[in-house]
Amino acid sequence: MTAFPEFRGRRLRRTPALRRLVRETQLSPSRLLLPLFVCPGEGVREPVPSMPGVSRTSTDELVRDGERALESGLGGVLLFGIPDSKDDEGTGAWSEDGIVQGAVRELKSRLPELLVVTDVCLCEYTSHGHCGVVQEGGVLNDPTLELLARAAVSHARAGADVVAPSDMMDGRVWAIRQALDDEGFDELPIMSYAAKYASAFYGPFRDAADSTPAFGDRRAYQMDPANQDEAMREVWADIEEGADIVMVKPALPYLDIVHRVKEETGWPVAAYHVSGEYAALMAAAERGWLDGDRVMMEALVSMARAGADILITYWALEAAVRLQRG
Ligand code: PBG
Repeated sequence: MTAFPEFRGRRLRRTPALRRLVRETQLSPSRLLLPLFVCPGEGVREPVPSMPGVSRTSTDELVRDGERALESGLGGVLLFGIPDSKDDEGTGAWSEDGIVQGAVRELKSRLPELLVVTDVCLCEYTSHGHCGVVQEGGVLNDPTLELLARAAVSHARAGADVVAPSDMMDGRVWAIRQALDDEGFDELPIMSYAAKYASAFYGPFRDAADSTPAFGDRRAYQMDPANQDEAMREVWADIEEGADIVMVKPALPYLDIVHRVKEETGWPVAAYHVSGEYAALMAAAERGWLDGDRVMMEALVSMARAGADILITYWALEAAVRLQRG
């Protein structure tokens, strides 16, 4: 190792061309997944107040967003459903004519090349807002597995390209893999929310998806933000159960986890820059306190630098425009 004055780090930072030449991390639109919220109706595009630039849309409007995603060269879209009505069990999650199932059929028939990933969970469909079967104020693990598997199979039948379970029940990847295989979907990949933390950064999403738990919180199933080794146990468990892609969520406060998961597993890793991370930066940008475009690109490149192959972000379309401009 040479030292000053032989070594001068600034030599390679002098011009844009030099900086480009030695840049270690490249972003591309194909690595970005855009989360979208689909709701009933027609011609609906209802902005989510705490997420500037994000709306809940009916299926016809969703197809327009899908077209934009395709034109921008995005990796794909990640779909969340907001049903008309909810019940105790969350039956809307697996009904054949459910909101997501219909939206997937429409997207795949209109835009067959668009990669459609579906979030598999019950919390958007249950009246209590929890991610599983509730009994005596607690969420039961094993009885929930069967329901999640049903939901995943219904998404597969509708034409989803990837299913993404986000509930954090134990054994759900195994249950979903078995159910998919039994139904002939043995080639359908699973992207599991493997290390999903009980985070305060999901607040705006729960407004958008109307999925705030009616009582208690999700700490009995989502992970404690203080833990790192436990994330590795969760990730390995999901891989052994059949996950093809593993996700860490949220992203920026958990880049150490992203890094460790990539280093130790070598598996495809997704990082989800969640609603609260997005909302905080957008709010500061709206006030003129931060340069919105620059923090967006810095956040995304940091996720990629830490080891994420796939970046899930509400900025996907804006970032793709920036990347195409160079
Ligand atoms: C459903 C789910 C959540 C998010 C993705 N899938 C919310 C939660 O666990 O409460 C959060 C996404 C975001 O905040 O952007 N279980």
